[in-house]
Amino acid sequence: MESTESKSKAQIRHLRQLKSEAALGGGAERIAKQKAKGKLTARDRIELLLDEGSFRELDTFATGGREGEGTLMGDGVVTGYGAIEGRLVYVFSQDFTVYGGSLGLGHANKILKVMELAMKNGAPIIGLNDSGGARIQEGVVSLAGYADIFLQNVMASGVVPQISCILGPCAGGAVYSPAITDFVFMVDKGSYMFVTGPDVVRSVTNEEVTAEELGGATTHNEISGVAHFKEDSEEHVLYMVRSLIAFLPSNNLDPAPRKDVNDDPLRVEAKLDDFVPDNANKPYDMVEIINAVVDEGNLLQVHEHFAQNIIVGFARLNGRTVGIVANQPQVLAGVLDIDSSTKAARFVRFCDSFNIPIITFVDVPGFLPGVNQEHGGIIRHGAKLLFAFAECTVPKITVITRKAYGGAYDVMSSKHIRGDMNFAWPNAEIAVMGPEGAINILNRRDLQEAEDPEALRQKKVEEYRTRFANPYVAASWGYLDDIIEPSETRPRLINALEMLQNKRDENPPKKHGNIPL
Ligand code: HXC
Repeated sequence: MESTESKSKAQIRHLRQLKSEAALGGGAERIAKQKAKGKLTARDRIELLLDEGSFRELDTFATGGREGEGTLMGDGVVTGYGAIEGRLVYVFSQDFTVYGGSLGLGHANKILKVMELAMKNGAPIIGLNDSGGARIQEGVVSLAGYADIFLQNVMASGVVPQISCILGPCAGGAVYSPAITDFVFMVDKGSYMFVTGPDVVRSVTNEEVTAEELGGATTHNEISGVAHFKEDSEEHVLYMVRSLIAFLPSNNLDPAPRKDVNDDPLRVEAKLDDFVPDNANKPYDMVEIINAVVDEGNLLQVHEHFAQNIIVGFARLNGRTVGIVANQPQVLAGVLDIDSSTKAARFVRFCDSFNIPIITFVDVPGFLPGVNQEHGGIIRHGAKLLFAFAECTVPKITVITRKAYGGAYDVMSSKHIRGDMNFAWPNAEIAVMGPEGAINILNRRDLQEAEDPEALRQKKVEEYRTRFANPYVAASWGYLDDIIEPSETRPRLINALEMLQNKRDENPPKKHGNIPL
């Protein structure tokens, strides 16, 4: 029987057929292989990341200009846009079932297109990476594609938030695109990043190492600091990206979204009044203080597993996003060292790029002494944090909860480097150095000659504490704006944030500063 289907209906049927073929990527067999490894497909990942039904795919038919055998629609990456909690985001998701998600020029051009759209329209770009790297068959052209992406990452830096999720292999120069982005998520035991893999390492340095040890999620979250988040499943990675996006503005010109929260801005937290131990050498958990102060006890830590002597992350105060930077007395007494300085410096610069006020909680005994630290360049790395806080023009509020000694006092968002509101708790100790060290220097001879050196030391320490190690000297110079009761920290911070909401401050005109990298 002759078909009665009109030409246009037939064309629509053909279109639908092509789209469902494209949706299969490298085919049912390779999808089954991907799933057998416990991995989601490129499209499943997008579905989980975005609000239901919001994804619109672009370039479904792109083949990188190639035709004929072996050509696959989409060229190994799914790209498009959609929404997270109703807000526009752009996304690309590499499809490992197509040439191992490897990147050729067509694949690169698709990624570049969504990156450009993200910048023009002021919305975050999220990359879901799962790729065998440069597409070997395309040779230098694929290297060109990577370089084009690196350049676009740099152009987008500080314009829109860029987020990378590593959900499979990421090797060779390909790691440098995620490295330039603002936040890197890795899935535990399912992803790795390295410049050269275990085989090359073995042949060059004779070191035996597995891919997981060399560049797995634990390595990059705990040791190298390359990654900021480690999650135990892909689903959780995607869920956490949604939580992170909820804190961030869409671009550098927008304010951060304000959320309705169920937490009284005037809430006082009585437990904070005697939370910090009287003994200045006794540790406590700064996270508990932060959670007690911020809305609904909700702190999203960034770099949680790296350089744990400093805490950085996002929280809200009366619904507004703030960046938190805080020494953690529970780890290495909260000292500043190379890793904690670079961790906090990068975070401060992110907040400043995206108009996020910074709240700094200070309990810092100083910079970490030691040959390793000095030879490793603590001067250069500590200077990064100093530079970052000093150049930063968003509202900066500081609370000294206990110690603020030496250069670390200056660095931790002090008044002197443009802290807007600097508070201290009454037990705060602010001085050039701690009492013990100071007494050893100032009273060396007296101690050597004393009949009872221990008794003399105790007496001198007490005198020093009374004279120098308290917040009132700093307050008398105006270096503190107020000394506050710990329990009233939340209402005071919220009030100060409101007071600073129209803050305007500028750095002198220049191409860019020269942060000591
Ligand atoms: C083309 C590739 C590919 C690549 C994988 N495939 N990598 N095709 N170019 N770079 C294809 C495979 O041929 C295979 O095709 C399919 O993807 C799946 O690969 P498998 O090896 O079967 O998968 P698996 O066992 O899971 O191993 C994944 C892998 C491995 C670890 C990623 O494929 C691998 O080592 N690939 C090469 C990685 C690499 O050296 N890339 C170059 C890095 S240098 P079929 O048809 O069989 O399904 C680089 C430089 C970037 O990227 C520089 C930027 C400046």
